[in-house]
This record gives sequence, structure tokens and C-alpha cells, in this order.
Amino acid sequence: MDYWEDGVVVVEGELIAEVGPYDGLPVDEDLRPGLLTPGFVDAHVHYPQSRIVGAASGPLLEWLARSVFPQEQRFADDGYAREVADSFVEGLARAGTTLAMIYGSVHASATQILLEALEARGLRAIAGPVLMDVDSPEALIRPPELALPELEALAERWRGHPRLQVAVIPRFALSCSVEMMEAAAELARARDLWVSTHISENADEIALTCARFQAQDYLEVYERHGLIHARTVLAHCIHFSPSEWERMAEAQAVVAHCPDSNAFLGSGSMPVGEVLARDIPLAIGSDVAAGRSLSIPHGLAHAYDNGLRTGTRLDPRRLLWWGTAGGAQALGHGPTGTGGGLGAVGRLAPGYAADMALHPVPSYVEGEDGALGALLFDADRPRPTRTWVAGREVYSAGAGAADGGA
Ligand code: GUN
Ligand code: ZN
Repeated sequence: MDYWEDGVVVVEGELIAEVGPYDGLPVDEDLRPGLLTPGFVDAHVHYPQSRIVGAASGPLLEWLARSVFPQEQRFADDGYAREVADSFVEGLARAGTTLAMIYGSVHASATQILLEALEARGLRAIAGPVLMDVDSPEALIRPPELALPELEALAERWRGHPRLQVAVIPRFALSCSVEMMEAAAELARARDLWVSTHISENADEIALTCARFQAQDYLEVYERHGLIHARTVLAHCIHFSPSEWERMAEAQAVVAHCPDSNAFLGSGSMPVGEVLARDIPLAIGSDVAAGRSLSIPHGLAHAYDNGLRTGTRLDPRRLLWWGTAGGAQALGHGPTGTGGGLGAVGRLAPGYAADMALHPVPSYVEGEDGALGALLFDADRPRPTRTWVAGREVYSAGAGAADGGA
């Protein structure tokens, strides 16, 4: 990752044309003394949970029953969905996040409303309703014969969009029948859509899953039904066996690492060394609302702590890469990605999309290490003041930023 103490970025249309040390020539905007980074990538976040951040109602299954499912039922109401979608999308832009993999509720209309809000704001996203047809509150059960045609219609409606894609999201094995998982895998294959789900998060969840599906391990349940491949993003992956890690590497499935969520629910610590040892693609997920912040730097600080707990001291440069270019590549938005013709994102480099966030750094901060430390680890870090996607400003904190004195 390159760093310029006093740099210049030339944006032409949607793309970055040039980056380098400032050459003294006139510029359109002087952003000093701010720190300009690529926009952040959030590989796992739940929009219908954005109003229950901080619900400390127990470990995973209890938290889902007490806090999450009652809230997600409210997204049957389009008016409520619109209100939450607008503020959620603004929250992403305010956090400097420019690309996200977003879970909806079971309601296709609530995901349509989210996609409209993302389009209006100009963000990039891969989003879908969650699929649930068993062992869930009645109001959240949507059988495959209803859910999949709705999902397919949504995918058709957004097909070819330059920034938005529809994803196939069987919520987790415990909320899905075999028929649902198979139909979901088939739709993803037929339409070349991303798949995402939760896996190996919590000890009770794992035991119940292996018992219900009579499986040796959790990954086997999804493998059996065709859900594990290089376009699958798996949130958590905390308690994998060596065999599961090997099969993840073989499939090149993506780990969505959600360390703040894992800490808050007490789910455990993901052994990040297993991922590094096998070169498994990894991206960071805020996992709001089990995660307590939409800020990817906040998530990266938790990833650092999680690394130490599991025996790996992570370089801050690697952390920032995971939160930007690495995350983008894992979600098919890298230079060799399969993101459906979308441009590469995640770096301030020529030819990349101009997706950027501007951070006010304290004046005493010096050099690359100082800037990275302040950005990632100062818990009192100020929020980004401006965010751009494809060269277009999608968020501005207002007057303080507009006069260039960030
Ligand atoms: N497993 C199934 N659903 C969820 C969810 O909404 N959040 C988390 N963290 N884990 C899940
Ligand atoms: Zn989640």
C-alpha cells in the first residue's frame, strides 16, 4: 500500500487517473491536512438490525430470538423499511464505507427499498433478502416457492446495474430446509449471483446444525447443497476444524471476519493464522447489530485484538488492505474480479474507481505509521468528513469540510 505525506490524486470521471507526490501545480481542491484513503469495504452487515445496535440480550441464539427476529418482522412495513434504509445507507457513507455486502430481512420489498436507497446515494453493494423457511417465528417464514421467485424478480430488476448486485442469502442452516438451500444454490448458479451465509459462529448453533443435518461438520451442510464456491462469503468461521479450513482454501470461499460481533456475542475468536497460512480470501464485516459500529476502522481494531488473542500480531498495513483493496477483491471488485463488469475498487491507483474517504487526522500525527495508528486504533478517531464513490461525493460532513480545513 503506497503512502504519500503530501500527495495528489487526479480524478477523471469515475476513475483515478494519476496518484503521486504533490507537484506544486494548481489543484481543484486542497484537502490538507486530511488523510485520504480508499473507501472501506464491509463484507457483512444487516440493514434491518441497524436500530438494535447494543442489544446485549445474550449469546447468538438467544439474541436472535429476543432482539433480532422481533425487529426484523417490522420490515414487512414498507414505510418503516424506507425510513431505516435511508438512515442506514447514510450511516455507511458517513463511515466511509463505499462497498458493502448487505443482508435484508425476509421481505423482498424491504430489499428493493434498500437497493433504491443505495442507488439514490450512489454506493456500491451486493444485497439480498435473507431466506428462512424453518424453525423461525411464523412472521419470518417464507417458503421457497414464494421466496425464490421474489428473489429472482429482484435479481432481474437490478441486473446489469453498474454498482448494485442482488445476492442469494440463506440466513444460516438452522433457518433453512434442504429444499431451500438447494433451490438457493441453483438460483445463484443459474444467475451467477453471490451467495452469503453464516457459519460456525456459536457452540450451540454448531451442535444443533450437525445434529439436525447429521453432518460431520458445519461446512459439510452447505457443501452438500452446492453453496460453497469462490463466490460464497461466509460470516464468522470461528470454530472450524483443520479439515474445514482445508476445504475453504480449496473452494476459495471468502471469510467475512466479524471480530467485534464475535466479541460482543461472546461467540469466540476466529483463528486468523489459519486463514493466512492457507491464503484464504478474507474481508472484514461490521456485522451490525451484533457488531457495534458501521466503522470499518473500528472493526479492524477488533481484528487486531482478535489476532493477538489467537497468536497472530497483524501488521496495520495488512489490516487496512483487508478493509479496502483486499475486501474489494474478495467481493469480486478487484482487478481480476468477476464483479459483473464493475470497475476495480479499493486502491488509490490509476485505473481504479475513485472511491475514497477523507479523514481528519490530528496535526501532531506524523508519517505513515502515525496516520495508520490514528486511523485504526485511536478509539476517539473522528469520523470521515467526506466520502466519494466513482468520483461522486456521497457524503459530506458539511461546512467544516467544504472550506478545505478538514
Ligand atoms: N446467524 C443467523 N442470523 C444471524 C444474524 O443475524 N447475526 C449473526 N451474527 N449471526 C446470525
Ligand atoms: Zn451476520
